[in-house]
Amino acid sequence: MIGTLHVYENEAAVFHAAAEKFVSLANSAIAAGGRFTVALSGGSTPKGLYELLTLDPYRGQVAWDKVEWFFGDERSVGPDDPESNYRMAREAFLLKLAVPPERTHRIAGESEQPSAAAAQYAGELAQTFGLATDGPPPTIDLVLLGMGSDGHTASLFPFTAALNERAKWVVANDVPQLHTRRYTLTVPVLNAAACVLFMITGVGKAKVLQEVLEGPREPERLPSQLIAPGDGRLLWYVDRAAASRLES
Ligand code: 6PG
Repeated sequence: MIGTLHVYENEAAVFHAAAEKFVSLANSAIAAGGRFTVALSGGSTPKGLYELLTLDPYRGQVAWDKVEWFFGDERSVGPDDPESNYRMAREAFLLKLAVPPERTHRIAGESEQPSAAAAQYAGELAQTFGLATDGPPPTIDLVLLGMGSDGHTASLFPFTAALNERAKWVVANDVPQLHTRRYTLTVPVLNAAACVLFMITGVGKAKVLQEVLEGPREPERLPSQLIAPGDGRLLWYVDRAAASRLES
């Protein structure tokens, strides 16, 4: 297994542990370099963490105006669509923490030109990090990820083209199994992160978590196995239900 596994009693305990890690990483990054860069996960699980960060004690523990918010992936929808990861984050915490709009970098999922929208987002990453998009990827301080029951993470879905992208930082990824297109940070960007934190909860993830962590390496079928940012920088925060099939 790559990374460090932390098993918590229940989902609430996962969120509290993730909030404490978030605060710790944020304060270290802000102390060291004056800002904290985060790539947010979508779906439903992380909403519990996002809402928790707006409450005491966590709300008062971070200089929120020094955080740059990015998204690990986005659906092909606009910012007000119920499916939008940006909308979920905006409603769960961005509005509540009065995050300055210029610090929130959303993916233009509504775009009619998917490749241009992906390139534009890569450009926004490059500008924030003072890099060139044809060079090495940025080191995002914290990448939050979830995992689907099919083993996908971000919008790196099984057997899709984005899994093999090693040059571009952001791509529009056709996902035939969902009859849709998704925008996603690519493996080089995710693996360049200073810290990657998976939050995985519920018995419905138990089988796939066991396969990803303990099964044979099959990254085309289990894209979460592609995430390997380096020792000590990959954290798996799971609850007992999700861990219930693990042998180790
Ligand atoms: C998305 C997410 C996606 C998510 C997984 C797990 O856009 O849906 O970025 O990768 O993390 O689908 O979602 P849950 O944690 O809600 O099960």
